[in-house]
Amino acid sequence: MIRYNKQARILALDNGSIGYAIYINDAGYLETVYFGKSLGDYSDFTCARKAGEYATPRYSVAEGRDVGYRDGFKADCAPLEISPHGLTDKRGAPVIIRGEDGSFITDLRYRSHRRYKGAPEIPGLPHAHGEGCETAQFVLEDRALKVRAHLYISIFADKDVIVKSFSFENYGKKRVKLARAMSMQLDLPRADYDLVHFGGRWSKERDYNCNPVVDGVQEVSSNLGRSSAEENPFVFIKEKKASFDSGEVIGFNLIYSGNFKFRTFVGPFRGLHITYGINDEDFEWALAPGANFYTPQAVIAYSAEGIDKMSQTFHRFIRENAMTYVHDREYKPVLFNSWEGCYFNFDTDLILSYIDDACKLGTELFVLDDGWFGARNSDRAGLGDWQVNKSKIDLHRVMAHCRERGLRFGIWFEPEMVNPDSDLFRAHPEYTLGWGLDEISLSRNQFHLDFANPAVVDNIYSQIKAFLEEYKVDYIKWDYNRTVAEHISRAYPADRQGEIYHRLVLGYYSLIGRLTRDYPDIMIEGCASGGGRFDMGTLYYCPQIWCSDESDPAQRIDIQFNTSLGYPLSCIGSHVNDSKMASYSAKAALALFGTYGYEMNPNLLTEGEIAELSATAEIYRAHHNAVIENGTLYHICAPYEGNYMCMQCVSSDKSASVVLFMNKLKELERYRFIRLKGLSAKKRYRNTLDGAVHTGDYYMNVGLNISDTWLTEFNHRLIVLTEE
Ligand code: DGJ
Repeated sequence: MIRYNKQARILALDNGSIGYAIYINDAGYLETVYFGKSLGDYSDFTCARKAGEYATPRYSVAEGRDVGYRDGFKADCAPLEISPHGLTDKRGAPVIIRGEDGSFITDLRYRSHRRYKGAPEIPGLPHAHGEGCETAQFVLEDRALKVRAHLYISIFADKDVIVKSFSFENYGKKRVKLARAMSMQLDLPRADYDLVHFGGRWSKERDYNCNPVVDGVQEVSSNLGRSSAEENPFVFIKEKKASFDSGEVIGFNLIYSGNFKFRTFVGPFRGLHITYGINDEDFEWALAPGANFYTPQAVIAYSAEGIDKMSQTFHRFIRENAMTYVHDREYKPVLFNSWEGCYFNFDTDLILSYIDDACKLGTELFVLDDGWFGARNSDRAGLGDWQVNKSKIDLHRVMAHCRERGLRFGIWFEPEMVNPDSDLFRAHPEYTLGWGLDEISLSRNQFHLDFANPAVVDNIYSQIKAFLEEYKVDYIKWDYNRTVAEHISRAYPADRQGEIYHRLVLGYYSLIGRLTRDYPDIMIEGCASGGGRFDMGTLYYCPQIWCSDESDPAQRIDIQFNTSLGYPLSCIGSHVNDSKMASYSAKAALALFGTYGYEMNPNLLTEGEIAELSATAEIYRAHHNAVIENGTLYHICAPYEGNYMCMQCVSSDKSASVVLFMNKLKELERYRFIRLKGLSAKKRYRNTLDGAVHTGDYYMNVGLNISDTWLTEFNHRLIVLTEE
């Protein structure tokens, strides 16, 4: 997959579907001469290179005629893998290294490269893994500083994915500082794309935002200390005419859970310059002699056939090459979570009654949410004290009750936080971020623990471990209910506070990494005030993430659909709640396109509601694994484009398909022939809408006819097609 033409100095990564070519120019810069559909043969780039010309003919200028011209190429507009910083190229370098003399100049030049099978190990950070991967590793050295940069570019045989990252090595005797250390640069010779990103807030995560790539600088970023509800690290650029099935689409994500910045720059030469990685705001990393720094990996998915192909590539990549949970191919149990039913107000008897009634809904895993530990009867106290509040709940009895009914049991933690009203805070006020300031910001009545300090991480690890040794739970919900403020750690000297944002993320990974290694069978579900840390870094450890605290279809239709553009349904934590705006069957149908579960007071459900919900649980049991968890997802109608949403999953053997059509606002009777996708043309399928049997061809061309219904708000059709 990776070939190097020594004479032409062109390294090409090509998996037969996508291609990426890099030219090592005379000055030692890496020019990105191509990224797109597979070319197979890269010798044309060689032909263009005659004396006095360059591998990238489109950038040719006559020597000496331009200020940007140096060393045989035009440095301020050539498409590069790493723009130098402090020279004539002002597009925005991915890396800035400062020497002891205070200089910002960073000029990394090629020294060598190698190719190898497999993906690079990134110490301390979640990273891509798996079969069928090859990596090119370039070694570059700074012109003045004794710093070596390693650029890793991996390509996968069975997925249209490129993974990029850097590491930096100080091989000198003086300390240097990384003032910016992003994961990648990608320069494209055209800029007429739209940029799609997913902004939002609590309960409105991942709104679809589509704007033209503009002249000058554009940024999608988080500086909240977590990947955030405000912006998600998944973004894509698309040709303006691209649809779900056609056009060029390039998706980007980061295997990281902290501050990020995706930045585009379009300058006078009309090329698109992209840098992506850790947000450089308040970032500065001291690299001592002999030390290394590794950036998170950026993942680029390429599609010449529309948004869905990119989306499906991310789904497969996340499941096969990012997640590590040993059972991630397994059936996901129907989950009942206590939170929205009783919040903090429960005792043992109430929870036992919840378990009994949850069983009637087809529940297979019961989760006791917030409120079981310390003095936690509201959000004002208890965080940090991970001992069971035995005067409130008899957890052994609760767990025995679950086991007797064949249910698994799970519990809630929020490891990175502390309430001022807690034993932990009273004993160790210095464990919080910002300690020593005259005021620290409270958010949801809690402080952020200083997870940059390994002693703090060790304390929480010991507490959780003691709990897990006594209570053999099957599942943990790992919550994170505030953003980072006062990013000061007293465990580090004044001149290293620029490391704290990133060190907090490293602390999170170190704790969750230790726990998943110690307890590989426990499934951890990520969460952060709903979906505030929905990212590939978390997915490395957690096979699912609670998608949003909003389960009402009014917002949830969009949240669910948009999240699934970048993330597989198998990881989208989705529950039916008791919001009154839509029927239980509508909410259940939506939750089915994720990890199905419930979150309400089950004692209050009527016989009819129980029947409605357990019927959907039956569909989940029958089809989740083959069709939704391991099948292919097609986005048929986007809720941001019209009045309804339609998604369809097809099993990999194409023997079954589940379709969800959901209306948003009341709408008159009209033609609605939904053209399905991905079926086998000649197979015959019976659908549960009208019991009719048609060929795949029929469903994909004539369509599934639901035009004879007058639709009200959130009216929906959940249709299962099975091969006859
Ligand atoms: C926020 C989560 O999103 C909820 O599901 C719930 O776990 C609460 N935190 C508990 O405090």
